[in-house]
Amino acid sequence: MQAQRTCIEAACALIADLPGVVFELGLGVGRTYSHLSEKLPDREIYVFDRQVLPHVVSVPPASHLVLGELADTLPQAVERFRGKVALLHTDVGSADIAYGMKTAAFISQHVPVALAPGAVILSDQALNVSGAVAMALPDGVAEDRYHMYRMDAAAGAAASNPTAA
Ligand SMILES: C[S@@+](CC[C@H](N)C(=O)[O-])C[C@H]1O[C@@H](n2cnc3c(N)ncnc32)[C@H](O)[C@@H]1O
Repeated sequence: MQAQRTCIEAACALIADLPGVVFELGLGVGRTYSHLSEKLPDREIYVFDRQVLPHVVSVPPASHLVLGELADTLPQAVERFRGKVALLHTDVGSADIAYGMKTAAFISQHVPVALAPGAVILSDQALNVSGAVAMALPDGVAEDRYHMYRMDAAAGAAASNPTAA
């Protein structure tokens, strides 16, 4: 949790001058959403989950809660927010390693179209996002404890749309 908090704070500083919304994949009990809301009070934060747990500590307004399986909700959302996501945080992993790898591959495949050039990606799992470059983690965060990427300035929506070239 501390590693995540440290990475989120670093990411918030990196996107300070980059307009755009935030995607939070995995509401869980809402601790990360609460932290993001505190650090980015002026950003729109869209939160994705298949459920809202009864003991959630912080829940987004209905307008910013995207309920359903990522397989159904993410493809539509990336089209809606094409090139407009400044920060993507994903924490949908579980103890099921095969599920985690499959989900990481799905997320990696779908998110490039939504990410702004210079956007930051934070993830509990390693991702392979076209146009994103792995970043060194902030001091004090052990390697592989979290994963941080930055979209190339020339990447994002254009890079994932071959017809835009
Ligand atoms: C580890 S929890 C997230 C914890 C969160 N960061 C917090 O602060 O509590 C993972 C969440 O991802 C959601 N999730 C996992 N796979 C999903 C999928 N394929 N579609 C939608 N939600 C999913 C689960 O329902 C769960 O709430």
